[in-house]
Amino acid sequence: MHELDHYIYPHRILHWLVAGAVLLSLASGLMLGALGYERAVSLVGNTLTNLLYTSHKTLGMIILLLMTLRIITRLAFVVPDHDPPLHVLERLVSTSVHHLLYLALVIMPIIGWAATATGGFPVEFFHWHLPRFIGEHDALSEQLFMWHERLGWAIAVLVVLHVVGALFHWRIKRDNVMKRMSLFD
Ligand code: HEM
Ligand code: HEM
Repeated sequence: MHELDHYIYPHRILHWLVAGAVLLSLASGLMLGALGYERAVSLVGNTLTNLLYTSHKTLGMIILLLMTLRIITRLAFVVPDHDPPLHVLERLVSTSVHHLLYLALVIMPIIGWAATATGGFPVEFFHWHLPRFIGEHDALSEQLFMWHERLGWAIAVLVVLHVVGALFHWRIKRDNVMKRMSLFD
């Protein structure tokens, strides 16, 4: 046992930055996916549509960057103990959801990148264009966008489970789970 009752501060900051970015990228992605380029242009105009696409891609690349840092801060530093310890089932479910979120949030931007590149679209990061790495391939791009959508729904389900779990520990069990990730106490 050790005295630590929080994740290290940089890891907590990364958690909340990623949480905000994931919610924004799910919302912007679902909006773009539901409307499609043409309908978005006729609804909100060219400039705003392009801004939405650029922001969505930029956010996705930021998530990839933050997740890389986060994997480092998770592996390199001590993880606080649970006080009281979690039941076996709680530990199993929460660890599975956490691992799946880590995996999904690394794979998702890579699929988005590959789908965009194979579709012949620019891989934007703010006003820069990142290298495409793969050539144009329409059929592959379509498949990758399909997986991008499926994984998007999977992430949404994982986030709901995760937030329900967090709220349960915070408001009902009132243990130290929320404190471990809190920026304020
Ligand atoms: C929306 C996107 C979110 C994602 C992708 C996410 C992801 C994660 C992951 C992967 C962990 C595992 C610990 C680690 O970082 O290694 C974690 C921990 C945690 N998250 Fe989230 N989270 C999100 C939102 C939230 C929200 C909205 C809350 C609060 C209502 C929350 C509360 C917590 C708490 C309390 C922990 C600590 C759990 C523990 O130590 O066992 N998270 N989160
Ligand atoms: C974790 C990061 C990301 C999340 C959570 C996310 C989520 C989503 C979701 C849910 C959709 C809607 C899919 C649909 O309904 O068809 C979407 C669409 C899209 N995403 Fe992402 N995305 C991420 C990263 C990226 C990245 C890095 C890129 C490109 C560099 C990208 C490019 C796109 C494009 C172009 C669309 C529109 C697809 C269409 O019009 O059907 N995404 N995204």
